[in-house]
Amino acid sequence: MSKPEVTRREFLKEGGTLAAGVTATLASVPYVHAAGSDEIRVGVVGCGGRGSGAAEDVLQAARNVRIVALCDYFRHKALGLRKRLYSFAEDARVKQLGNKVDVPEERCFGGLDGFRRVLECDVNYVILATPPGFRPEHLEACVAAGKHIFTEKPVAVDGAGVRVCLKAYEEALKKGLGIAAGTQRRHQGPYIETIRRIHDGFLGEILTARCYWNQGDIWFRKRESGMTDLDYQIHNWYHFVWLCGDHNVEQHVHNLDVINWALQAHPLRCLGMGGRTRPYTDPKVDGHIYNFFCVEYEYPNGLRVHSMCRQITGCDGNLPGISGVAEVLVGTKGVCQVNSFTINGQPVVPRETARRYANPYIQEHTDLIESIRSGKPINELKNVTESTLTAIMGRMSAYTGKVVSWEQALNSKEKWRPEPLTPDNLPVPPLAVPGKTALV
Ligand SMILES: NC(=O)c1ccc[n+]([C@@H]2O[C@H](COP(=O)([O-])OP(=O)(O)OC[C@H]3O[C@@H](n4cnc5c(N)ncnc54)[C@H](O)[C@@H]3O)[C@@H](O)[C@H]2O)c1
Repeated sequence: MSKPEVTRREFLKEGGTLAAGVTATLASVPYVHAAGSDEIRVGVVGCGGRGSGAAEDVLQAARNVRIVALCDYFRHKALGLRKRLYSFAEDARVKQLGNKVDVPEERCFGGLDGFRRVLECDVNYVILATPPGFRPEHLEACVAAGKHIFTEKPVAVDGAGVRVCLKAYEEALKKGLGIAAGTQRRHQGPYIETIRRIHDGFLGEILTARCYWNQGDIWFRKRESGMTDLDYQIHNWYHFVWLCGDHNVEQHVHNLDVINWALQAHPLRCLGMGGRTRPYTDPKVDGHIYNFFCVEYEYPNGLRVHSMCRQITGCDGNLPGISGVAEVLVGTKGVCQVNSFTINGQPVVPRETARRYANPYIQEHTDLIESIRSGKPINELKNVTESTLTAIMGRMSAYTGKVVSWEQALNSKEKWRPEPLTPDNLPVPPLAVPGKTALV
């Protein structure tokens, strides 16, 4: 499946400037490795929806890519992806790039330690696509093993995990490792152009901003026979905070990331509220996440950002004229709706051009691979970690009813993962109650 990409000439004809991702696609790629090979050898950790998608994306992102190892907590999912990838390798675009799938069954691993087996294979590029509760540990191990990383968002569920990620970021910088994050809007041409306009002052001084992720009910996967508590929670991970961070973190991080990107800052403190309307009897069965949040963030210079997310079917997504998943900035010179790439109602990038930009899910791998091959690896771990912490502090405030500062969230003693991670009798905390749940 070949993806249409806007060419430099077409874009300039339409009066634009090239987005970073597009420029990278056009750049020549030097051979930089001592051994003369610049092959990207990929291991995938987490073979569900996104891990499968990312595996296909990397095969379309650049030449000389080989997928060599797969792992999923449920090994049968790794074997399922293996089959799917062999079939995908027949795709014309994959063949044209000379890319390969080379995963014998013995390089399909399962269990909690499967990711370590992947790192022991001859991989130099790891895709991390498990639920975010495992991400800090996986990032730390990949960096220690000297691998380049594509990590899905978010990268942690609590301050303890965030601290691990920030250390991994520093360590990766020292080792010259490349890390790209699945905050794909940062690799999406029209988003890049729109944010660039904001940074160039087209909106004047920014006065305030808003962002939203309002959608219907999230999926719920029932416990299957023979599953331990641990199996069930990993299977139905979106309903357990130690695995997903709750949806202010798991999903809304995308929009909060756009706001941090546009403002070139992270919030100083916030006050949030939220709750759960979904039926709730036993947290071990139903999980214990909220299904709506509303958070006001304070950024430097007193700038306020209003943020809202919801997973309830049958509700309106937003006021008329704006979608349920959106980011808006208001400045002294007007209003920018970032997600629709408009400033004062005028498209920043002509609509036809916007449609022809490269698929950001592929572009993020293209950008990472090109940066590695050019010897100047990008490292997006700090940005995505800060956006993750932005989301975490909103959840902490909503759960407790307290104002939460950046430092409180960063240095928090909160640690959601049950220790030890036993197959059975895994405790699940009750639903948080604002005013009663303690801020730790
Ligand atoms: N950037 C995006 O637009 C986007 C879109 C979808 C999902 N995601 C992110 O991707 C991640 C995965 O989401 P998904 O939709 O693919 O979920 P999923 O449930 O489809 O897949 C997750 C997979 O990880 C496996 N897994 C869980 N724990 C594991 C472990 N310790 N080791 C190995 N495998 C493990 C599960 O068995 C499952 O197969 C999440 O962080 C999510 O936020 C990002």
